[in-house]
This record gives sequence, C-alpha cells and structure tokens, in this order.
Amino acid sequence: MAIAGICILFSSCCKAQITYKDTSNTAPQSIDLGKVLIVYYSKSGKTKEVAEIIQKCTNGTLYRIETQKKYLKVSIMIALDAKKELESDNLPELSTAAPDVSAYDLIIVGSPTWRYTVATPVLSFLAQCNFGGKRVAAYATNTGNVGTFFDLFQQRAQNAILLTGEEFHNKLSGKAELNKKIKNWLNKITILKFEE
Ligand SMILES: Cc1cc2nc3c(=O)[nH]c(=O)nc-3n(C[C@H](O)[C@H](O)[C@H](O)COP(=O)(O)O)c2cc1C
Repeated sequence: MAIAGICILFSSCCKAQITYKDTSNTAPQSIDLGKVLIVYYSKSGKTKEVAEIIQKCTNGTLYRIETQKKYLKVSIMIALDAKKELESDNLPELSTAAPDVSAYDLIIVGSPTWRYTVATPVLSFLAQCNFGGKRVAAYATNTGNVGTFFDLFQQRAQNAILLTGEEFHNKLSGKAELNKKIKNWLNKITILKFEE
C-alpha cells in the first residue's frame, strides 16, 4: 500500500495521536503514541511551564524532580552550588523516588540550563535511572546558551534511545510562540517510520 504522506495531528485539543494519510481512499489510520512520562526539574517555573504544555499535548504523566537540599533563591548562589556539584560529581540527593520508566513508551526529560549544561538535580535523576532501551527526549530551558547540555545529557542517559532534543528560551514564556515550538518539536520526535 502506497503511503503518500504522514500527517501528525496535534489538533486543537492537542491529542497525542498520529494519523497516517494514505492514498488508497481508506479512512486515515490513527495510532496511539502510547504512554508518555514527562520528568522535569524546575527552580523558578519555566521548565515546569513547558512540562505542563507537553502534558496537555500528550496526555502524559508529569513527574517533578525534587532535591533534599533547598537551593537558595539567588541565581549566583545556585550557580556556585552547581559548580561545586559538577566539579566533584557530588550530585544532590533527591527527595523523590525515581519513577518506573518501564511503564512508559516515551520519556521526556526537562531541565533548566545551569552553567551551560544540565541542571545537577536532573543529573541525579539520570544517575538513578536506567531507561532500558526506551525512547527518551530532552529539552532545556535557558536564557541563550545551552553549552554542552545535550552532549552531557547523552552521556548520562543510561540505555536510552535518544530522540532529537529541543531548547526553549525563557523569553517565550507565556507566549503562543512557546506552544507552537513545543508542538513542532513533538511532531518531529514522534514521527513513526514504517515500510511500505
Ligand atoms: C544557577 C543558574 C545557572 C544558569 N546558567 C545558565 C546558562 O549557562 N545558560 C543559559 O542559557 N541560562 C542559564 N540559566 C538560566 C536558566 O537556565 C533559565 O532561567 C531556566 O529557564 C530556569 O528554569 P526554571 O525556571 O525551570 O528553574 C541559569 C540559571 C541559574 C539559576
């Protein structure tokens, strides 16, 4: 059967569904994307905002990473803490048990960019988590320079099939542009390829 094109629908209500358009005049075939887990850490709310939009789009499950230590509110103090944690690889203890990723088909991991890379609480999560061959996609929120974020994420995501990551600048917060960029990214990473 010749497949003319693939149309991924994130329609008005943004359902996590893929429709394959086919030339043989049969009804479009819908395929459920499966179970989506959105894991994120957020200190000041930007990464959370993106996670919540993704949740609405995919009807997925949200999981917020929390640390035992409480980072101070001042960015420079967090940066100093993060520098020490990164240099010593003495990552912060988490106060939340890692979710059972085996129950999901796609795991999306969101992190703020700290010191040009993945925020240390998310590195703690990655150290605890074996993705066991699952599809994983990362996003970074940032203020303009994600540095080595995606390289480090790739190194630390154990047994993940990594999909293309995305970055979201803080300046998009609260704007329609942010929704659009998230949907475009989801469309990109959820394309399923199949043979004719
Ligand atoms: C300690 C610290 C370090 C940061 N380092 C960077 C950086 O290297 N590059 C960048 O683009 N933004 C950096 N930022 C900005 C954050 O990545 C950005 O504000 C992020 O969206 C915050 O996410 P949150 O609101 O979910 O905590 C840094 C912020 C903090 C607090």
